[in-house]
Amino acid sequence: MMIRTLCAGLVAAMLAFSASAQQPIVIKFSHVVANDTPKGHAADFFAKKAAELTKGKVKVEVYANSTLYKDKEEMEALQLGAVQMLAPSLAKFGPLGVKEFEVFDLPFIFDNYAELHKVTQGPLGQRLLAKLEPKGVKGLAYWDNGFKSFSANKPLKTPADFRGLKMRIQSSKVLEAQMRALGAIPQTMAFSEVYQALQTGVVDGTENPHSNLYTQKMHEVQKHMTLSDHGYLGYAVITNKKFWDGLPADVRGQLEQAMKEATAYANKIAKDENDAALEAVRKSGKTQIYTPTPAERLALKKATMKVHKEMESRIGKEIIEEVYKETDFDPTKL
Ligand code: LMR
Repeated sequence: MMIRTLCAGLVAAMLAFSASAQQPIVIKFSHVVANDTPKGHAADFFAKKAAELTKGKVKVEVYANSTLYKDKEEMEALQLGAVQMLAPSLAKFGPLGVKEFEVFDLPFIFDNYAELHKVTQGPLGQRLLAKLEPKGVKGLAYWDNGFKSFSANKPLKTPADFRGLKMRIQSSKVLEAQMRALGAIPQTMAFSEVYQALQTGVVDGTENPHSNLYTQKMHEVQKHMTLSDHGYLGYAVITNKKFWDGLPADVRGQLEQAMKEATAYANKIAKDENDAALEAVRKSGKTQIYTPTPAERLALKKATMKVHKEMESRIGKEIIEEVYKETDFDPTKL
């Protein structure tokens, strides 16, 4: 009897052990945009690759559209370890105390993706990610979204058109300065709240890459949009450093590989997805799309260039100059 009880106990213990050995490591990946966006697709791609390469040892659960956390909360949740991965916009690292990422928000600093990649895929990009580590955060990669358009319920062609408009921005002091330089009134707001704020008139307008505008249906509540390409919006994929460093080395290596493949995928689809979203906005007929003339775009550039100087003390003059050098940007030549 005694032996039988002992054996049963042993079998139960063994079963419990093997069940726990098979429990996958769960990575909660929270983000604020729709699934059908460059970031949404890249996060889903990463989840699939991670399962494949770790042979099921890791399960990435993607929570899109702010279903788990909004902008500010998700940063706190990552530091506390309540989620393991995020991909916030580069404009959202100021509240964490890493203001240098706001260099990516400077108006007109990048003309195209190729210029941007010189920074994100070069030594400066790596140095910026390293600045996250003292905050308990590890930067894994840069994922593209795209170049922003302005939108509002009136046409936005000249700086004068912006005067007095309440414009929603992400939590970046550079974007705040950019809107002020145009005479607008910047309003920082979580992404999940923008549609309603536009609909109810809490704000008059905003700026976004087309994929964000379209998937949040902002075009339904914005009558005009200007293809200004005045600034870039993209992401840093980040994880909780303690969690990452505590992973078994082989699993971490497989996840690094999955991230590498997801990054190549993200950066390949971003432009096409934004182009497709712009087409969908055009087809909807709800928003008038305006392409500024070179002279109009230059006027917007001239009005906002002072932000580069103004933000030197916040971002670091040497960081701004390093970007200029990488991209052959000459602020004195307009
Ligand atoms: C925004 O708040 O407008 C963007 O950062 C949203 C996003 O993640 O693309």
